[in-house]
Amino acid sequence: MNTALKKWVDEVAAITTPARIHWVDGSQEENDRLIKEMLDSGVLQNLNQEKFPHCYLHRSDPSDVARTEHLTFICSEKKEDAGPINNWMAPGEAREKVGSLFRGAMQGRTMYVIPYLMGPEGSPFSKVGVEITDSPYVVANMRIMTRMGDVATRALGDSSEFVKGLHSLGDLSPDRRFICHFPEAKEIWSIGSGYGGNALLGKKCFALRIASVQAQEEGWLAEHMLILGLESPQGEIHYVAAAFPSACGKTNLAMLVPPASQKGWKVWTVGDDIAWLRIGPDGRLWAINPEAGFFGVAPGTSSKTNPNAMATVKKNSIFTNVAVTDEGCPWWEGIDGEVPQHLTDWRGQSWTKGSPDKAAHPNSRFTAPAAQCPSISSKFNEPQGVPISALIFGGRRARTAPLVFEAFDWNHGVFVAASVASETTAAQSGAVGVVRRDPMAMLPFCGYNMADYFGHWLKMGSVVPKPPKIFHVNWFRQNAEGKFIWPGFGENMRVLRWILDRCQGKGGAVESPIGYLPGNGALDVSGLNLDASTISELLSVSRDDWRTETQGIGEFFGKFGDRLPKEMEAQRQGLIKRLG
Ligand code: OXD
Ligand code: MN
Repeated sequence: MNTALKKWVDEVAAITTPARIHWVDGSQEENDRLIKEMLDSGVLQNLNQEKFPHCYLHRSDPSDVARTEHLTFICSEKKEDAGPINNWMAPGEAREKVGSLFRGAMQGRTMYVIPYLMGPEGSPFSKVGVEITDSPYVVANMRIMTRMGDVATRALGDSSEFVKGLHSLGDLSPDRRFICHFPEAKEIWSIGSGYGGNALLGKKCFALRIASVQAQEEGWLAEHMLILGLESPQGEIHYVAAAFPSACGKTNLAMLVPPASQKGWKVWTVGDDIAWLRIGPDGRLWAINPEAGFFGVAPGTSSKTNPNAMATVKKNSIFTNVAVTDEGCPWWEGIDGEVPQHLTDWRGQSWTKGSPDKAAHPNSRFTAPAAQCPSISSKFNEPQGVPISALIFGGRRARTAPLVFEAFDWNHGVFVAASVASETTAAQSGAVGVVRRDPMAMLPFCGYNMADYFGHWLKMGSVVPKPPKIFHVNWFRQNAEGKFIWPGFGENMRVLRWILDRCQGKGGAVESPIGYLPGNGALDVSGLNLDASTISELLSVSRDDWRTETQGIGEFFGKFGDRLPKEMEAQRQGLIKRLG
C-alpha cells in the first residue's frame, strides 16, 4: 500500500464521510458489477444490446451538460500566476469555501479511489493521477478514457508523485459547483458536476490545466491537440498534431477517411483531443496521447462525416444525453438515415418528428475505447510516441482566415497560434456562435498565466533543435450567402497533403502578409467541382479584414500588460507593416 496515497484517502474519507470505500482495480468483473449497479439504480439505461453490445445511456441532470468555464478556477498562490484569462481564487479561500462543500458530501455513497495512468504503460512520459469520486459513472468513463486501476497502481509504486483529484457530485447545483486547480500542489477539487470535462479529472483538469504547468516547469508542451499519422501511397508515415477549439472537428480530422480521389493515402489515429509533446533524442518533437479513449461530440457524427467514429462506438461505449430510438439505439441530429417518427429525447421525454426541440443535446457525447477505432495507429501504445512534422492550428471562422497558410518561422507560428479565434460551440455553456480569441485552442485549459504560456512556446522554439513547421487552417469559411465553401471532412486530406509537401521542402507556396499560401496548382482540388472564384475566395487574404483582425489581436494582447513577451507584440507590428 502506497503510504502517501493511503494517507490522502484517509484524510478525504474523514472529511467526506462515505458509507464505504472502493479501491478501483480496473478489472472486467469490477466493471460488470458497477454497470449492473448503475442499471439497477437508474444511473445508466440499457441500449439495444444486440445492435450495441455493452453500450449504455446516461442522462445527466439537465443543468449539467457542458463544461462550466465561469465556475472553473486556477487557485495559484499569486493571482498574476493565473493571469487575466483564468478565474482565480486564493488557495486558502478555495480550501475553505469548496472544502466546506466536501464536508459530508459522500454520506451514504461509495467513495471510489481510481488510480489512473495518463499515457502508455511503460512510457517515460506517462504520469499517474488518482481520482477520488462518489460517481460510479465517472469510474466507468475513466476506465474507457484512461489506463485505470492496477496498471496505474503498478506504475505509481510507492512514489508520492501523483496528481490528486477529488471529485464529488455534491448536490449537482450550479450554485455549489466549483472546479478548482491548485497548480503548486498539483491538485484538483471538483464538486457539483458529473459532466465529462468537469468530472473526468484526468482529461481537461489534469492532462491540460495541471500538465500545462508541469510542462512549463519541465520543458515540454501539454496541448489541446489531436495526433494523426498520414501514410502515403509509398507507405511512408508522417505525423502531425492539430489544435482546434472544442467541437470544431478534432475527432473527425483525427479519424479522417481519405476519399476515393486520394488513392493510396491513409490516416492513422493516435489521439483526438490531447497531446503531450517532448523533445526526442533526434531533436524533433515527439507526441504521446495521454488518453485511452474518445469523449466525442455525438451530433453531426455519421458514416459520412466520420465512419471510423461510427464503427468505434458500436460496442463497449457510454452515450451521454443522446436520444434513443424506439428500438433502443442511440440517436442524434446528423446521424445516418431518416429522422425517426418517434424518439425518446435526451431528457427522457417522448419526441416526435418535426418537434422544434433537439432530440439529442447539442453537446451529447460518446465515450469509446480508442483501441476499437478502425484507424487506430499501431503507435498508439508506443512509449516514445510519434515524431511530429507539423503543428496545425485553426478555428471556426466564417471569413478572414483562408483555408490554409504556413507560418514564416517558429516565432511567427507562435503568434499565429496565439491569435487563433473561433466561434463558440455547445461544448461550453453560454452563447453559441460568438467569436472569441482562443490561443492554441487552450483558452479554457491553460493552467497558468497565458502570457507566460506564450513565453514558454517561444522558448521551446529555441530549445527544440528541429522544430516542426506551423500551419493555420480554417475549414469553416463561408460565402456571402452564409454557405460553407470548402467541402471539409475527408477532403481535408488535400490540405494535409500540401502541409506534408511543405514539410518535405516540396509544395509550391506564395508569400502573403499573413504567411505562405498554396501557390497556383499546389493544392490538389481536382474533381472537387469548385470553380476558380471559389478557390481564390478560399485562399484570399483581405487586407481590410486582417487590419481589423490585428486590432482584435491587439485588444486581446492588451489584457496581459507587461507580462506579454515583447516578441508577441513585435510579431503583431510585423503583420501590421506587411498589411501596409
Ligand atoms: C472536450 C472539450 O470535451 O474540448 O474535449 O470540451
Ligand atoms: Mn477538447
